[in-house]
Amino acid sequence: MSNQLNKVKELIELRAKARLGGGEKAIEKQHSQGKYTARERITMLLDEGSFEEFDMFVQHRCTNFGMEKKQFLGDGVVTGYGTIEGRLVYIFAQDFTVIGGSLSETMAQKICKVMDIAMTTGAPIVGLNDSGGARIQEGINALGGYAEIFQRNIMASGVVPQISGIFGPCAGGAVYSPALTDFTIMVKGMSYMFLTGPKVVKTVTGEDVTQEELGGATVHASRSGVAHFAVENGEEGLNLTRRLLSFLPQNNLEEAPIHVTEDPIDRLEDSLNEIIPDSPNKAYDMYEVIGAIIDEGEFLEVHADYAQNIIVGFARLNGRSTGIVANQPCRLAGVLDINASRKAARFVRFCDAFNIPILTLVDVPGFLPGTAQEYGGVIVHGAKLLYAYGEATVPKVTVTLRKSYGGAHIVMSCKQLRGDMNYAWPTAEIAVMGGAGAVEVLYAKEAKESEDPKAYLAEKEEEYTKAFANPYNAAKYGYIDDVIEPRNTRFRVIRAFQQLSTKKQLNPAKKHDNLPL
Ligand code: HXC
Repeated sequence: MSNQLNKVKELIELRAKARLGGGEKAIEKQHSQGKYTARERITMLLDEGSFEEFDMFVQHRCTNFGMEKKQFLGDGVVTGYGTIEGRLVYIFAQDFTVIGGSLSETMAQKICKVMDIAMTTGAPIVGLNDSGGARIQEGINALGGYAEIFQRNIMASGVVPQISGIFGPCAGGAVYSPALTDFTIMVKGMSYMFLTGPKVVKTVTGEDVTQEELGGATVHASRSGVAHFAVENGEEGLNLTRRLLSFLPQNNLEEAPIHVTEDPIDRLEDSLNEIIPDSPNKAYDMYEVIGAIIDEGEFLEVHADYAQNIIVGFARLNGRSTGIVANQPCRLAGVLDINASRKAARFVRFCDAFNIPILTLVDVPGFLPGTAQEYGGVIVHGAKLLYAYGEATVPKVTVTLRKSYGGAHIVMSCKQLRGDMNYAWPTAEIAVMGGAGAVEVLYAKEAKESEDPKAYLAEKEEEYTKAFANPYNAAKYGYIDDVIEPRNTRFRVIRAFQQLSTKKQLNPAKKHDNLPL
């Protein structure tokens, strides 16, 4: 064999060794826990044969605690690029089979390298997390590595989409990288995120809690809101990542790809003409409205289990990716509260950062009253949503279906917050407050002095409702651009977005804003 052939053979052997990560035993252990390896995940995520790996021969440089003898080619992370539906994406996948995927200085350098290239080429970054956290033997160098990654997460925010898949442990300060990214996907029963684990919790607070209860997928998807999606298994998480990216542009200077649709833009949905119940206190399901308006009913909901009184997610209208924000009358009557405001504000800001137009469907009785909300800072959190809509410069179309009262009316993308096209159904009630509340304030004295206060107030409420609980008062002032037939909503909304597709609006130059946090 020639010298050159020997060298080629050596390369092939080294590559094969690197591809084994922590070795066959560690891979078996990973599989026995129902988990895929980093490389298997990458293969499942990317288009077939599209992965190009970087830094396969990187090795850590730690010599503490005999670490010089514990070497693995590529160290504990697999990095590189590939395509998803033909579009470029950068990826890093922590390899738990190599020293528990714990983060070394060199691993951080590998991750930073792909993040830097993603920024210069303008392509999304997907991080697949499965790691025991900072590599304990490396001490401060591992911590520094995390900080380098966080800094890049911050710089990439609003420039390229960043998606975090949590496929195993993600603990300690490591959780802050996913928290800085746009979307976090967790796998039920397999992944967990917390700052301090159950043992530390027990020592400090005396609380007994399992890993799942403290930071499992269900907890973060429904209670804390840290996770945007909770999926049943690894495959679902990877498929979801592909689907999510299909709604997003490559970067903040581009538009999301257009998908050809067979769904006619002038499809009439007769059911929408009868969906609003006669009684104002009766609920209906906003998902039915969303499904009837969007292309082929395909809705990718974000934060489906968190703050269910508001719905956010991606859909397409005539093939164009659109962010949907909608109050949900059948959850807490669609009221706005702290969590709903935070959830929707973050979503609106994401859409605005990435040139995704926003459709807002309004049926909101107001903000949730009470000490729990006030003490929790609903003023500041509600202001986030107001701020997000007000600063957004993407095309914004609002349709008011039924209630739109008080501060909540303003917050939900009203005309004065630069709503581009504000439509209302004939069933819309746009006013300072609902009839019952209004007459209590306006006629309290007269009611007391009347023979039958209850009947008096009922009569006044009817008068008020007749005068104010309609869309025409707002339309009279041009705050509503048109009152539309519900069954024609899809057509009107698509036409509005077509009209707005060349919209250009700039906010004043500033270093950055001061969003109420
Ligand atoms: C070095 C680590 C490690 C770590 C795991 N390993 N975590 N090595 N540093 N942080 C090694 C183990 O020693 C073991 O090596 C191999 O990885 C697999 O780990 P196991 O414990 O056998 O796996 P498992 O039973 O599945 O348990 C997984 C685990 C546990 C729950 C994650 O390993 C664990 O508790 N690790 C420590 C977690 C932690 O406290 N990390 C530091 C958090 S603080 P061998 O050689 O036996 O195969 C932090 C600060 C970040 O991260 C700050 C950023 C700003």
